[in-house]
Amino acid sequence: MPTIQLEITSGKLAGEGVITAQKKLSQLENVFQDEATRKSMDQDQLIYEVQAYMPVEEGKEGGLYFGNSTIFPGKVNNEYFMTRGHFHTKLDTAEYYWCIQGKGALILMDEEGKTWLEEMTPGSVHYIPGKIAHRVANTGDEKLVFNACWPSEAGHDYATIEKDGFGARLMEVDGKPQLVQNKKEMV
Ligand code: 6PG
Ligand code: NI
Repeated sequence: MPTIQLEITSGKLAGEGVITAQKKLSQLENVFQDEATRKSMDQDQLIYEVQAYMPVEEGKEGGLYFGNSTIFPGKVNNEYFMTRGHFHTKLDTAEYYWCIQGKGALILMDEEGKTWLEEMTPGSVHYIPGKIAHRVANTGDEKLVFNACWPSEAGHDYATIEKDGFGARLMEVDGKPQLVQNKKEMV
C-alpha cells in the first residue's frame, strides 16, 4: 500500500499524516496592496488551502515533502488572490510545482528584488531554484490547483516578504494580468 493517495484530477491528497491549513482573508493582513479594500471585504472568505504530507520531522536533512495548494478565484481591488509567498529558510533549497487545474501565475523573485513570472496551466511543471522567493496568483475564474515537492530542511521565511514584499505585483490591467512594479519597493 502506498503511504498516501493523490486524487489525479483534483490534485487532493488523502491518507494518514496529510495535514490541511486554510488561509482566510482575515489572516492576510498587508499581503495585498489595497489594505483598505481587503479590510472591507468578507473576512471569512477562503483565499487558499494547503495540504502537506511531511513524513519526516521538519528541518531534517534529506527528506522530501509533498503538498497540494488550492487558490480560490477573486481579487482584492485589482490584485489577484494569491499566496503570501516566501523564501526558504535554508535559502539554497529548490522546489517543484506542477499545475493540476485552473489558470494562474508563479511569481518569482531573486534576492535583489528582480521579479518575473511563469504562467501556470494544467500540466505545466515549474522548477523553482534555491534562493528564489515564490508566490502563486489565481488569474482565472475557477480554482487554481497545484502540487509541490520540496526538501524537508527548506523551512519558510515569511518575514523577508512581510518586510520588503515582492518587486512587482500581479494586477488586472485592462482585463488582463500584468506584473506591475512596486514603486516603493523598486531599487
Ligand atoms: C512550500 C511550498 C508550498 C507553499 C503553499 C502556500 O515551500 O511549502 O512552496 O507548499 O507553502 O503554496 O504558500 P505560502 O507558504 O507562501 O503561504
Ligand atoms: Ni516553497
